[in-house]
Amino acid sequence: MRILAIETSCDETAAAVVEEGSRILSSVVASQMATHGKYGGVVPELASREHLRAIVPVVRLALEKAGAGFDDLAAVAVTEGPGLVGSLLVGITYAKSICLARNLPLIGVNHVEGHIHAVILEATETPIELPAVALVVSGGHTHLFEVRAGFTYRLLGRTRDDAAGEAYDKVAKLLGFGYPGGPIIDRLATHGDSRAVKFTLAHMKGNKLDFSFSGLKTAVLRWVEQRDMGGEVEARRKLQNPTLEDWLQWTPKPTLDMLASFQRTVIEELLRRALASAEETGAKALIVSGGVASNAGLRAAALSANSPCPVYFPTPELSTDNAAMIGAAAFVKFGRGAFADLTLRAQANLALA
Ligand code: KG4
Ligand code: ZN
Repeated sequence: MRILAIETSCDETAAAVVEEGSRILSSVVASQMATHGKYGGVVPELASREHLRAIVPVVRLALEKAGAGFDDLAAVAVTEGPGLVGSLLVGITYAKSICLARNLPLIGVNHVEGHIHAVILEATETPIELPAVALVVSGGHTHLFEVRAGFTYRLLGRTRDDAAGEAYDKVAKLLGFGYPGGPIIDRLATHGDSRAVKFTLAHMKGNKLDFSFSGLKTAVLRWVEQRDMGGEVEARRKLQNPTLEDWLQWTPKPTLDMLASFQRTVIEELLRRALASAEETGAKALIVSGGVASNAGLRAAALSANSPCPVYFPTPELSTDNAAMIGAAAFVKFGRGAFADLTLRAQANLALA
């Protein structure tokens, strides 16, 4: 039972062939980093154009690598939201075209559910027990869900402002580190003292499991404004294809300390609410997924934390956007007979729970 999955919700054109919901026969990801990097963030119009350029070769390559043709497929799955409408539309339109031409069933998948399935997909030896708590942290989302048996979801908490990855990207942009900021800050943070700058944790009124990162972002902005940093920021902006050594050469110790402190604060914000959710719901597993799940500091902190249940992360390849996770989530929907028809729409703000 093979599903061709397509993911174009943001700035990655991805296609994968997944067998029985758990065997990845191929997973191709064409990144648009080179296009958006110089703007310090994803430019929606450019993203849709790049998807248009990449979608046919990426799907062909995924089929070729899987040794499969359209005739070997049981269904085509595609991300229907949340994401950038223009980007989603490219994947959805192409998936519909294949289904119409080949008379295949179509499955619409929520991108966030895909991120959760990225972890479930990989736990082949000891399957993850449900109910679980899932922390989905990326450039677009910071959500806590309860994942119940049969894969139904209950929203426990979410960010009220920026997503965690977005905070990383904004801080990186402010300091001249380019886009995406998460991986660079993650690597530089190990060279600084994470206790040097005391950032305050967010106190949430109402739902204590909600997140907020705008206060932290503003605190970083104030820290920068109080110093004369023009020289180092400009020097970093001018670097061409910098290596870690180049970044380190142009980043003085106080900035490294601030980055380490920023990262420690983000990790504390994420973990304390994830662990509280696991405790409160009696979860049998804690799943951490999304681009920020590749953060080395977050992984180390989560795996050494006093967690009430085992903690699971995806491998780095399945942490950031990919189509294999969409194929895995689609397999569950296939089993339920939850098919879409050709009226399937792109939904920028599609909710999971
Ligand atoms: O899941 P993803 O590829 O796309 C979205 O759905 O947003 O996540 C990308 C986000 C970016 O904000 C990026 O800065 C962040 O994940 N990210 C990281 C790391 N690697 C990627 N953030 C912190 N540490 C990392 N190592
Ligand atoms: Zn994502």
